[in-house]
Amino acid sequence: MPHRPFLRAWAAAAFALFPGLAALPAAARDDAFKIGLILPMTGQQASTGRQIEAAARLWMAQNGDTVAGRKVRLIVRDDTSLPDVTRRLAQELVVNEKVDVLAGMGITPSAMVTAPLATQSKTPLVVMAAATSGITEASPYVVRSSFTLPQVSVALADWAPRNGIRKVVTLVSDYAPGIDAEKFFSQRLLFNGGQVTEALRVPLRGPDFAPFLQKVRDARPDALFVFVPSGAGAAVMKQFLERGLDKAGIRLIATGDVTDDDQLNGMGDGALGVISSHHYSAAHPSPLNKKFVLAFEKANPGLRPNFMAVGGYDGMRMIYEALKSTRGAGGGDALLAALKGQVFESPRGPVYIDAQTRDIVQNVYLRRVERVNGQLYNVEFDTIEGVKDPGKSR
Ligand code: PHB
Repeated sequence: MPHRPFLRAWAAAAFALFPGLAALPAAARDDAFKIGLILPMTGQQASTGRQIEAAARLWMAQNGDTVAGRKVRLIVRDDTSLPDVTRRLAQELVVNEKVDVLAGMGITPSAMVTAPLATQSKTPLVVMAAATSGITEASPYVVRSSFTLPQVSVALADWAPRNGIRKVVTLVSDYAPGIDAEKFFSQRLLFNGGQVTEALRVPLRGPDFAPFLQKVRDARPDALFVFVPSGAGAAVMKQFLERGLDKAGIRLIATGDVTDDDQLNGMGDGALGVISSHHYSAAHPSPLNKKFVLAFEKANPGLRPNFMAVGGYDGMRMIYEALKSTRGAGGGDALLAALKGQVFESPRGPVYIDAQTRDIVQNVYLRRVERVNGQLYNVEFDTIEGVKDPGKSR
């Protein structure tokens, strides 16, 4: 904060000396470092936007809004999770607002349409949510703070056959991250001596899970493996139980997107015992995570942070550190260089940004839904350390 009065005094003196300056558009005079955060704040993916915005604001409340003497401004835009809207908003933010960094990206299609713009304008794009492996290859300016579906799916395909699960039906949302999850889970299961007997895909928008789950019930696999994006897990769980798949002896195994901390507590006791693999649980037992969860819940009563929140919180840290490295100067290429190779402790555990792939390397945890202090949590029982995205071609 100490620089603000100085800047204001400088601006006042400059306007007195050069009255023409005052006529400049606000964006041209404004020395703030701008982060254009594009998120789905309404529509099917709204919980992702709510979580990431809350986490970004928490980061700023805890770490101040001035970095290396430079005021930081967060500009939040709602893309309603429609990629055409994401593209238009990203263009406006780059061209009119002259943002220094683009961030957010609730779903893969949003990240994919923004990537070319990041390349053309040399603007770093910090992907905080979307999790298809290939996103980091869509632009050299993409850096990811979330995770990838291959990263978490493989762990579950290693766990399953060791625990009596050989015959599996997969059920994924029919778009890129779902295809990633299906492919990497089934390949690894096959390698481990198991088999995917049927691969079901449900539409991303407004899915009706009931007919698909009826098919699964009739197929009688040892387990059903599910990926649906954050926000859709409760509907799957409800239908799974209503159709009596649990009573038919079919186990539900899933990526942690399904047993999402944002919804888990509302899923009821039917969720108890569900095994999932993911990079973050609100129940992660580190002191740093306990502090993070407490602060998040205090600032957002009734909201438990999920993996989206952690992607947003860590993404903000990465941007702050990069700005610090450039001593407040910024600049697309300098920021990008400073984003690569960052190593830090996240609420999820130790992480680093692989300088070659610009993707996050992190622990993947196996978790079981349990009741803790009266609430449902994903309780971690095994850790696979330092997992790189297995989806990268290099
Ligand atoms: C994605 O669209 O990449 C995506 C969205 C939500 C998730 C995972 C992946 O939970």
